[in-house]
Amino acid sequence: MTTRYRVEYALKTHRRDQLIEWIKGLLAVPFVLHSQPTAVFEPDGQSVEKQASVAQQRYAEIFRDVENIVNDHIEHQKAGKPDCSKLKLLVPSVANFFTPLALHDAFIWQDRRRCISFRRFVPPSFNDVRLVLNTAQVMSLVRSGPLDLVTFDGDVTLYDDGMCLTRDNPVIDKILRLMKRGSKIGIVTAAGYTEARRYYERLFGLLNAIQNEDLPLEAKENLIILGGESNYCFKFDANSPDLLRLVPREEWLLKEMLLWTESDITELLDIAEASLKDTVRNMRMSATIVRKERAVGIIPKYGQKFCRETLEETVLIVQKILEMSDVGQRLPFCAFNGGNDVFVDIGDKSWGVLACQRIFGGIEGSKTLHVGDQFLSAGANDFKARLACTTAWIANPLETCQLLDEIAELDEMQQRKTR
Ligand code: IMP
Ligand code: MG
Repeated sequence: MTTRYRVEYALKTHRRDQLIEWIKGLLAVPFVLHSQPTAVFEPDGQSVEKQASVAQQRYAEIFRDVENIVNDHIEHQKAGKPDCSKLKLLVPSVANFFTPLALHDAFIWQDRRRCISFRRFVPPSFNDVRLVLNTAQVMSLVRSGPLDLVTFDGDVTLYDDGMCLTRDNPVIDKILRLMKRGSKIGIVTAAGYTEARRYYERLFGLLNAIQNEDLPLEAKENLIILGGESNYCFKFDANSPDLLRLVPREEWLLKEMLLWTESDITELLDIAEASLKDTVRNMRMSATIVRKERAVGIIPKYGQKFCRETLEETVLIVQKILEMSDVGQRLPFCAFNGGNDVFVDIGDKSWGVLACQRIFGGIEGSKTLHVGDQFLSAGANDFKARLACTTAWIANPLETCQLLDEIAELDEMQQRKTR
């Protein structure tokens, strides 16, 4: 049942993506005007094919117009005036784009799979628009040349929440296919461990598969893990027992990251820990505090499940407190809801992706794709990756596989065109 409370809760801006909502609003007009719900019970009503072709044309026109508005925004970005674009007036939260978006073609592509235009009762949804945006992004990336770097979030993107990447996971072969095509791979995860063994335990299926694959040794080293958002770097190493070698921070830290002092890190984590303890007490949560070198979080006591509202409340409180603190202005941090835990990490995924780009010799944002599940503006940790590169927002590991198949299919089409 949709209670008034739920409706208002969903209206909270942190649970909305303004660009997607805006596009959804534009598509609602042709849906209302051209869908034919009465044809279901009126035998001489318009045929579903005819209605679908009219609706497809109208939706496609809208996507073409949005594509042009994005191009105009990119022109303003190039001129150093992104705030003056029309898109910025329409969707104030919109950030910079690293590439144009092939929205028209992507809509036709997704419409073939999801039959959006055939629907007479259900208008184009959040998920329809999200998937069109993903396809538009990968189309633009593939069309404009090689995709040099693909970074993946871990939980929910590569495997189910809290699980491991086992050999039977279909994403492994798709990642290997990308590596064989020359893309570098980064796994940019919040999971923060200081030892290679812990990452091996989570990712062994992929690491063993790379070890056994017929690939030159240098190509195998094109896989890195950036853990704790942007705190620990491990590179594939065929000769280590855990198939991973810790890369010392001096070798990969960006110059801005050298300014993150140990005393600031301790101070920020102390403030976060105090806030988390406070919320646990106030909300009567059955939680354990976990303090690490570069993170602090709460995890449920055995068998407990926190409700979404409690997790979000916890994140929003700690985020606000940190934003208001002096150290929170100096030091980047990321507070997020991990599904059944809350963590505050030092740094964020924009730094994680930037570090991957640097380690692989300076790859540009327009040649990098980050795939993740957490893109809401607060309480989500993949969101920050948008500052470093293009992104795709998936909802589960199956969608990651579908996206990688799309990339392969589009790549194949592109190769045929240029042959
Ligand atoms: P991601 O989806 O790959 O970014 O992983 C997020 C999950 O990693 C969180 O929900 C936590 O359960 C887990 N995790 C383990 N250690 C850490 C840490 O140090 N910081 C944040 N999350 C952690
Ligand atoms: Mg995730």
